[in-house]
Amino acid sequence: MGIVYHEKTKTFHLYNRSMSYIMTVMRNGHLGQLYCGKRIRDKEDFSYLLETCERPMGSYVYDTDRLFSLDYLKQEFPVYGSGDYHHPAVEILQENGSRICDFQYQSFSICKGKPRLSGLPATYVENDDEAFTLTIELKDELTGIRAELFYTIFTWCSALAKSVRLTNESSKAVHISRLMSLCLDLPDSDYEWVQLSGCWARERHVKVRKLTYGITAVESMRGHSSHEHNPFIALKRRGTDERKGEALGFSFIYSGNFLMQSEVDAHDVTRTLVGIHPDCFDWKLDAGESFQAPEAVLVYSDQGLNGMSQVFHSLYQTRLARGYWRDKERPILINNWEATYFNFTQERLVSIAKKAKECGVELFVLDDGWFGKRNSDRAGLGDWVANPKRLSKGITGLAESIENLGMKFGLWFEPEMVNKDSDLYRAHPDWILSTPRRRESQGRYQYVLDFSRKEVVDCIYEMMAKILSEAKVSYIKWDMNRSITECYSIALPKERQGEVFHRYILGVYDLYERLTLKFPHVLFESCASGGGRFDPGMLYYAPQGWASDNSDAASRMEIQYGTSFCYPISSIGSHVSAVPNHQVFRTTPLHTRANVAYFGTFGYELDLNKLSNEELSKVKDQIAFMKQYRSVLQFGTFYRLLSPFEGNVTCWMSVSKDQKTAIVGYYRMLNVANASYTRVRLEGLAPDLCYFNEQSKTWHYGDELMHLGLITTDATAGQVPDGVIACTDFESRIYVLKATDAIEGGNEHEGA
Ligand code: DGJ
Repeated sequence: MGIVYHEKTKTFHLYNRSMSYIMTVMRNGHLGQLYCGKRIRDKEDFSYLLETCERPMGSYVYDTDRLFSLDYLKQEFPVYGSGDYHHPAVEILQENGSRICDFQYQSFSICKGKPRLSGLPATYVENDDEAFTLTIELKDELTGIRAELFYTIFTWCSALAKSVRLTNESSKAVHISRLMSLCLDLPDSDYEWVQLSGCWARERHVKVRKLTYGITAVESMRGHSSHEHNPFIALKRRGTDERKGEALGFSFIYSGNFLMQSEVDAHDVTRTLVGIHPDCFDWKLDAGESFQAPEAVLVYSDQGLNGMSQVFHSLYQTRLARGYWRDKERPILINNWEATYFNFTQERLVSIAKKAKECGVELFVLDDGWFGKRNSDRAGLGDWVANPKRLSKGITGLAESIENLGMKFGLWFEPEMVNKDSDLYRAHPDWILSTPRRRESQGRYQYVLDFSRKEVVDCIYEMMAKILSEAKVSYIKWDMNRSITECYSIALPKERQGEVFHRYILGVYDLYERLTLKFPHVLFESCASGGGRFDPGMLYYAPQGWASDNSDAASRMEIQYGTSFCYPISSIGSHVSAVPNHQVFRTTPLHTRANVAYFGTFGYELDLNKLSNEELSKVKDQIAFMKQYRSVLQFGTFYRLLSPFEGNVTCWMSVSKDQKTAIVGYYRMLNVANASYTRVRLEGLAPDLCYFNEQSKTWHYGDELMHLGLITTDATAGQVPDGVIACTDFESRIYVLKATDAIEGGNEHEGA
């Protein structure tokens, strides 16, 4: 396993147990792509895969040769304008106005492990046997620009990480107007494109369409990865579903503007590009400077979409997320936002916390409204000092009261924002992103601080660090509630304005890095009006994220189903909220709200004082259940079984690493009169183990549950009511399946 180089054919073969990635230095000195897919045997020569052919209208590299055209050759770092008319991986504007480049192979190096990317989130290794990294150096002699392409193949999972760094080795500045982190040319276009799209309160819905001639793309130009499109796509073969078939997953470890596109040409070649969105991007690279593009991750699966997601889950959970909380079960929290909004006093907060403690909740989170003059969303952002009218003893006092109850205390911040009605804005009106002499657009009455400036980030850091040093704060919810407009930094010269979006995100990462280093035991949860920045970049700093402001259980099935395509269950912030729900005004049963939220970090977002005793006793049971099974739910192997986008029933499950415990979540949107007898085929169980179904009190072998299925019909399925169970819409069930060593199969268990 690792990376092989064949000198004679100048061929690189990166492989692990599951995938192969093969490249070669072509005869014009450029790097060619030969193969990406299921692991194949190594051999010296794959050059027959280079497509040399003569076609009318072709543009050819060599004077007398009508076979070698960059338009037909599959490449790793293509440029536009020298015969290749597809969208390129790189574009550099030079002093004379030209954008033509000619990146020639120079050298390569291979090392064990994976070097860190400075200032940027990226996957990492904990010991050098976990990966091999190939660095290929190319150079454009005329401009003096050196390109280093970094390829890391992981030895333990079916993933490859890719990034690029440019260095200006000339004496003149150039402008990088496009630098895609990953470019993959595939030899055919017989794929379906999968994306996660939506909007506020409807994030990451699964959308599938057939790739066709032209460009299929998702992007963000909002300054954050966005509710609209997630920086994730998959290309799957026709017939690939959750359980079987081939898929390639692409994920971009970045939280700002991005572009992911597949371009299919008339010869059915598919070029996929992943990187910072080239529109609104222009980076001046002075002599001697380097620019590092963020990392993209490519996952290959021949085990369907579940197989692909499981690779992302284990890689991102263990080698992208970091720190104290990475491998820890997440505290069950209560958040006061939907319970009180801005209308709270210290007494009310403590009374919610007390009730929560009685039920077994572990962490109380104070959301928006505790600072400055924040009585509504029109004022206060930027003034990270407790409002004494609301909290007489400040955050320190409140945190102490909560700790005295035996709970941990968490706090909300929105570090990147400012209201004009704030002391911070009055002191520094020029600290917001805005274009001189243009109107500044507001979003939620707030403005975006210019995080491309170090002094701005420093100031926010000082305010936050003071609170975290003085008060016992164990958790931070880091919110971000608007997109960027009129993007311009008065601290940068005109020729650097194209850098502001990226520099802004680097400032966000810098603040996260400083806070997580200084306060390593604090659990960070990222948030952006719900799931507006739920991306792998955030996961590097905050091991969990608030998936959506929509806390309705039925909506959450779709949001969490889609989110799980790329993101581990331990990262998906999910709460039980009040009914009628505050976003869609729907009433779902309390058990269904919990049954959905279990498959995430789990918490409550309501005033428990308003529940009846009967409901409170159910809440206690839910919390006890979550505590008992959260290691399986959050860190088990997750399988999607039935999609909310395809039918009335959603089903998913988590299986413990030892395969002895499985939790199945089964959810039916609308009840069906006189319904069929139904069963769901499970996944990931040990075929020979016998599992006890705690719901039906029956024993079943693993193979039986996986091939024959778990019977999901019961009297709630629209049959003639027996007077015991009320039939409802939004019904759901949790099945706990447990195998024990003592039971090795045998008839004595059947039907017991
Ligand atoms: C948006 C978040 O997603 C909510 O959970 C809440 O924190 C509000 N902001 C507070 O303003």
